[in-house]
Amino acid sequence: MDKFIIEGGVPLTGEVNISGSKNAALPILCSSILADNTCTYTNIPVLRDISTITEVLATLGMVIECPDNGCIVIDPRKLGSYEAPYDLVKSMRASILVLGPLLAKYKKAKVSLPGGCAIGVRPIDMHLKALTKMGADINLSHGYVMAFTEGLKGTRIVFDTPTVGGTENIMMAASLAEGTTVIEGAAKEPEVVDLAHALMAMGAQIDGAGQSTITIDGTTSLSGLEYSIIPDRIEVGTFLIACGITRGDLVLKGARADHVVAVIEKLLEMGIAITHRDDGSLQVNGKQEFRPIHVDTVPYPGFPTDMQAQIMALACVTPGTSSITENIFENRFMHVPELVRLGGRLEEKGHTVIVQGVDQFQGASVMATDLRASASLVLAALNARGMTEIRRIYHLDRGYENLDEKLVSLGARVQRVRGGL
Ligand code: EPU
Repeated sequence: MDKFIIEGGVPLTGEVNISGSKNAALPILCSSILADNTCTYTNIPVLRDISTITEVLATLGMVIECPDNGCIVIDPRKLGSYEAPYDLVKSMRASILVLGPLLAKYKKAKVSLPGGCAIGVRPIDMHLKALTKMGADINLSHGYVMAFTEGLKGTRIVFDTPTVGGTENIMMAASLAEGTTVIEGAAKEPEVVDLAHALMAMGAQIDGAGQSTITIDGTTSLSGLEYSIIPDRIEVGTFLIACGITRGDLVLKGARADHVVAVIEKLLEMGIAITHRDDGSLQVNGKQEFRPIHVDTVPYPGFPTDMQAQIMALACVTPGTSSITENIFENRFMHVPELVRLGGRLEEKGHTVIVQGVDQFQGASVMATDLRASASLVLAALNARGMTEIRRIYHLDRGYENLDEKLVSLGARVQRVRGGL
């Protein structure tokens, strides 16, 4: 397993290009199952989660080519298997996103139940209930979701709490269902909107994506398309904080500022200077005095759970008392004991972490536990006095494209050591 050795204390300076969004690319690649011919996607980040989903699609029989970095061409016409096996699904839960498209297009699917996850139980009950309401016959057997239908039918789906993956699965299924589906309590995340745009480019009739009610008029066939994925808003947020925590001066190129409004508001409140430039990029400066903050994670457009660990690292080196409350996942504080190893003063109280600011982190050996937790450890290490060793950075490689190379290009002292524990 690779690890990072980071020597902290260098202010990051320069320009960094923001990669395509992992969480937009995953459902959009799955939506190619619905197409009658070739789909070409660009701005796809080169990541382990993306290779996992293309492996799932290849296992179904789809023909996949990557002519260039960032481009994936999928021919769905040879699809001949309807099974997403345990070995792939257990390594990436988003594989469940093949369920809706397989059912809608081929009327059957066998998808492994994802099993446990480091950040919470993460059930898929809302996906299954909604598909059942649309006319799917679903059984759980030997660790698999076995689903059949004589034809999905449009209906009214109400999600009691917004689910990103659930909204995406139903939107894809409804695009080829008979009649009209109305999703109430839909997730509003930019990744849901990007999927809707991709489906519409294939010929789907979708109204209201980005709002809490989405209406989908089913159609009988969807065509291939050429589509470019939106930039990764969580990577944008992570680099904004990397700049603040190192007292740096950065330009983030290719960011969509409108997707990170809640994050920018919090960082401005803390004292990081962020300005929008004419070319659409963001200019960030972290040289001012910081102020403590209170953060509550909530569904979009509120502050994202996927930025909770990173802003906690920043709060650790901000004078005064900050508090950070996690409302989406029940076990998303696994970075807390690792931040404590790096000299942070944090106390967990139920769903809230109280942080007392210290001057600077101190280098130590720590263990990455999940994707965003790993990002917070990298941020802490960039700030720390001395050397930090971060083990198990395969978690980072799931969701940040070339993070080590990007940081090095901004002046950071980050070394990837291959192999070992
Ligand atoms: N939930 C249920 N039942 C369901 C579905 C969800 O109880 O059937 C619960 C979850 O356990 C969670 C909440 O509802 O407590 C929200 O889950 P959601 O379905 O919205 O999350 P997801 O689709 O599984 C996506 C992202 C996550 C991100 C969340 C929340 C992808 C591939 N994953 O997950 O991203 O944290 O939305 O915004 O889009 C990450 O990138 O690090 C990551 C974990």
